[in-house]
This record gives sequence, C-alpha cells and structure tokens, in this order.
Amino acid sequence: MRAWLMDSYAGIDALKMGEVADPKPGPGEVVLGVRFAALNPADAFLAQALYPAKPPLPHILGRDGVGVVLEAHPSVTNLRAGDAVGILRGDVGVEKWGTLAEQVVVSADRLVPIPRGWSAEEMAGAPLVFLTAWQALTQWTEPPAPPPVRSVLLVTGASGGVGVASVLLGRSMDLVVVALSRSADKAATLKELGADFVFDPGDPHLRQRANAAIAPSKVDLVIDSLGGALFNQLVSMLGYGGRISVVGRSAGVVPDFNTATLLFRRIRIGGIAASDYTPEAAQAVWTEIVGRLAAIKKRPVVDSIFSFDDVKAAFARLHEGPMGKVIVRIQRSEI
Ligand SMILES: NC(=O)c1ccc[n+]([C@@H]2O[C@H](COP(=O)([O-])OP(=O)(O)OC[C@H]3O[C@@H](n4cnc5c(N)ncnc54)[C@H](OP(=O)(O)O)[C@@H]3O)[C@@H](O)[C@H]2O)c1
Repeated sequence: MRAWLMDSYAGIDALKMGEVADPKPGPGEVVLGVRFAALNPADAFLAQALYPAKPPLPHILGRDGVGVVLEAHPSVTNLRAGDAVGILRGDVGVEKWGTLAEQVVVSADRLVPIPRGWSAEEMAGAPLVFLTAWQALTQWTEPPAPPPVRSVLLVTGASGGVGVASVLLGRSMDLVVVALSRSADKAATLKELGADFVFDPGDPHLRQRANAAIAPSKVDLVIDSLGGALFNQLVSMLGYGGRISVVGRSAGVVPDFNTATLLFRRIRIGGIAASDYTPEAAQAVWTEIVGRLAAIKKRPVVDSIFSFDDVKAAFARLHEGPMGKVIVRIQRSEI
C-alpha cells in the first residue's frame, strides 16, 4: 500500500510517500481501506518529537479517519467486509500506524458507524476533537449550570477543530458561548454555529468588551487551546469558582504566571487528555455527542479537503488556522 512514511523526527517536511506491505488484522482488529483522514496539530508535534509518544520508525501519522472494512479478524463479530466506519481516538497514528495510508489496522472497539445525514469527510475529522471538547466541558464535578442561570463558556481558538466542537457542544448545553478568533471573516461562521459573541484575542480591550457583553454574568468556564500571553487575561475574566480546561498551547508558554491570581475567586485549572478515553467510554460519549448535534441540527465543519499527494500543503493549512477540520482524501470511492 501507499503511505506517508515518517522515518525520522525531523518534522512534516521530512515525510516521504512510500510503499509498505498491506497490513493484516490481529485478534479483535480489522483492516480498513481508508477513504478520508483528518489532520491534528498533535501529528505535527509527534513528527518533531514534541509529543509524549515516540513510536518506532518508520511511523505513519494520522489519528482520525473514515474507511471501509476490507478484512476482519475471525474474532471480530460485529463488523464485516464492506462496512463503512469512523475511528474513535485510540492508538492509531500514535503508537501504531495511522490513517495517512491506503490501509490501517484498527481495534474493532474503536470503530463507529457514520451518523445518519453526515458525509464521510464530516465524520473523518470529528471524533478526536469532539471527544476532547466533551472532556473539557464535563471534567468538573459540577456541570455548567442549566437554564435559567445559563453559564458562560469562553472558547479560545474557536475556529479550530477543538474550538468548533466546543462551540457546538456548548450550544447544545444552552450555554452562553463567547468565541475568540483572530479572523473577522470567521466570526460570522462562528455565530452561525452557535457563538453568542465573537472577539479578537488580540484586542487590547478584550476583557472590557467581553465583560460588557455578558454582564451581569461572568465567565464560568474557559476551554483554552492557546496558552501564551492570553492565558493571564483569561484568568482575570473568570467569575467566582471559574474553571479553565487546558486543551493545548498553540500560542506558547504562559509568561509571568502569578499563582496569586487563582486566590480569592477559587479559580481552578485542569488539563485535558483525549488519550484517557477507554473504548467503552469513547463509544458512550460519542453516542451522546451525535445525539446532541442532531438535536441542534448541526454537523461537524470541514475547512478543506486535500489530495493524498498534497499532505504537506494540508499541514500548512492546519498551521495557518483553519475554519473547522482539514481533511485528506486517501482513496476515491463512494461510501
Ligand atoms: N489535550 C488533548 O487531549 C488535545 C486534544 C486535541 C487537541 N489538543 C491541542 O489543542 C490545540 C488546538 O487543537 P485544534 O485541533 O483545535 O487546532 P487547530 O484546528 O489548528 O485550531 C487552533 C485555532 O487556534 C487559533 N490559533 C492557532 N495559533 C494561534 C496563535 N499563535 N495565536 C492565537 N490563535 C491561534 C486559530 O484560530 P484563529 O485563526 O481563528 O484565531 C486556529 O484555528 C493544539 O495545540 C492541539 O495539539 C489537545
């Protein structure tokens, strides 16, 4: 099969298209013919040895994808050749070969059908970011308050994969959603998706503008993908008991962080790990997510679709800041 091979930790530019033997399924596994893969920033981090997992080389990146079952191990009873399925976050593309290949081996308990009404490309990019956003919304012992109180959710990097998922799930919970994006063009799309307010994270009056918009409420929960200098401002915008779910740090380390800013309002900060989901938990949460999206009549957002040969251009698009998910078409075929 053809695959993008990573034979060093020198980054995405060093990936090479190559030929490797077709894989075979082990117990509990199936081989998928990959139709679409989706990119995540963690793929680029792994390729630069900036990720905890350091798989043996050559490696194949790609954690998300949709495909058709080509072969199921005899021990797999719930799937058979021809079934179209999507992959829930597991070891694919992390410790094991991933979806930037014509075929991938996946544990059958990490596979789900494509929800009714979704395209294969919408499904391909959804699982990792929606499971991440769900954990970020629900990891705290008290869930965000339901109506009539309406908790306020602030989402940074709102146009990105995790950001869009957080906005949509926040809307499904009837939260007041404040979205941050550097792009004025993306603001209209974010409002269509369910953001009540959109602000530029670089606005020197961000705090005053956001506070005025949501007054007399304060921000209850932040889902932060950025870190960087913005983080201290986010802390200052939280109300009493406010929480920050830290998903990523696309804008770098937080300078001059003062732990005293957590005092008096009892601010809490908690990290997120999409890798923590057991297969059973991922399946149950995925069912909840699909139901919530159906209830608000929304589907995952695709930014762009690149050809298999253009994977490096696809990573460049991810790096510059997409509006939704960056998808790669691996094999042309109807699902
Ligand atoms: N902890 C976990 O389990 C987990 C799971 C998934 C992702 N993550 C991490 O979370 C982060 C976001 O992931 P993602 O998939 O949503 O990424 P993404 O699709 O690339 O989106 C990130 C968004 O953040 C904004 N952005 C990027 N760089 C920025 C910068 N330097 N300053 C200000 N804004 C910036 C951009 O939005 P605008 O251009 O609109 O401003 C971009 O669309 C990544 O670091 C990723 O590795 C962690």
